[in-house]
Amino acid sequence: MNSEASHLKLPPLKLGKLTVETPVVLAPMAGVTNKAFRRLCREYGGGLYVTEMVTARALVERKPESMRIIEHDADEQIRSIQIYGVDAVNVGKAIRLVVEEDRADHIDLNFGCPAPKVTKRGGGAALPWKTDLFTAIVHTAVKEASRNDIPLTIKMRKGIDDDHITFLESAKIARDAGVAAIALHGRTAAQHYSGTADWDSIAQLREAIPDVPILGNGDIFAAEDAVRMVEQTGVDGVVIGRGCQGRPWLFGDLQNAFEGSSERIRPTLSEVAAMIYRHAELLVETFADEYKGLREIRKHVAWYFKGYPVGGELRAKMATVPDLETFRELLGQLDHSIGYPGAAVEGSRGRAGSPKKPHLPDGWLNSRILGDAERLGLVEAELDISGG
Ligand SMILES: Cc1cc2nc3c(=O)[nH]c(=O)nc-3n(C[C@H](O)[C@H](O)[C@H](O)COP(=O)(O)O)c2cc1C
Repeated sequence: MNSEASHLKLPPLKLGKLTVETPVVLAPMAGVTNKAFRRLCREYGGGLYVTEMVTARALVERKPESMRIIEHDADEQIRSIQIYGVDAVNVGKAIRLVVEEDRADHIDLNFGCPAPKVTKRGGGAALPWKTDLFTAIVHTAVKEASRNDIPLTIKMRKGIDDDHITFLESAKIARDAGVAAIALHGRTAAQHYSGTADWDSIAQLREAIPDVPILGNGDIFAAEDAVRMVEQTGVDGVVIGRGCQGRPWLFGDLQNAFEGSSERIRPTLSEVAAMIYRHAELLVETFADEYKGLREIRKHVAWYFKGYPVGGELRAKMATVPDLETFRELLGQLDHSIGYPGAAVEGSRGRAGSPKKPHLPDGWLNSRILGDAERLGLVEAELDISGG
């Protein structure tokens, strides 16, 4: 880390009437950023902690899982939620429900999901290509949220692929609609999570839209990456996804970095074991069900122990752990004399994969305006979706 980076200080992030003291956002991650994980992250540092995404239609229908997703702990100061929808009517209704029932202080809209089953219907990252649809959704969303002065933000990718880049145009539409901030993940849908995020596109967005806070997203795996992104792009805040998987303390490092301190958290294996156990306990509480909570912790095992010398057999047992008592016993078998392993724990983590040609509805790219048949197909782009 260079000395200049360690002295970078960022002002708080302003989102409409809200102030986020540390300009750091926990990226919405389906299956990850539930109440339990947000609590662990919040305990380390300031920031904005967004729920997993909820689909507009399921929320309007008050599906129990959707109502669970948008719940917050009583001490979450900014109750932030993310909504995904494919039509202005349902998105508007979902936001109206949230606003009228006072269920959130900030709402983000997800336009970044690259999953083939979603883009092949025209949803997720395929949607901003249809400028009329995108405009209608964002305008309606801002209007509904403004009834109670709730800041509405959007999160998107660069576009569908390198030949169909949409972010600058989408950002202008969103700005004109009155969004409170714009987050850009510097990848196209075709890239999925492969390669490296293009921070130059984030800098380009910052320059093109000087009057709305811009949040940069993609490949921040350490506080130093966040500082570099701010320096390279001039963004007002950073959005962290995979980098905090199995490392909620990253938010402590980020707060330190943005306060100009070079202090970093370097947990020993014992400390990691205590953290994952606590995570499991919180998941049991969140799902009000020990079995469900433990089923949820399984995917976190590999993330927490990445780079720590933990034997394959023990890892495998922890990845199928049935209850808290067994989990405690297994964690007790770790070698508690092991300190922080250094580089093995750092660097990229989580989803990676390879680029894939985006699946799109037939003829989707032929027009920027939504056709009637395409509108019908979109309905299914909201079913069975997870992730961005
Ligand atoms: C497991 C997982 C779930 C995700 N779910 C969502 C989601 O619900 N909404 C969303 O906008 N993005 C979602 N994303 C994308 C992230 O918010 C983020 O944009 C992406 O991971 C890039 O940031 P990173 O490089 O910091 O991970 C998800 C990503 C992962 C890895």
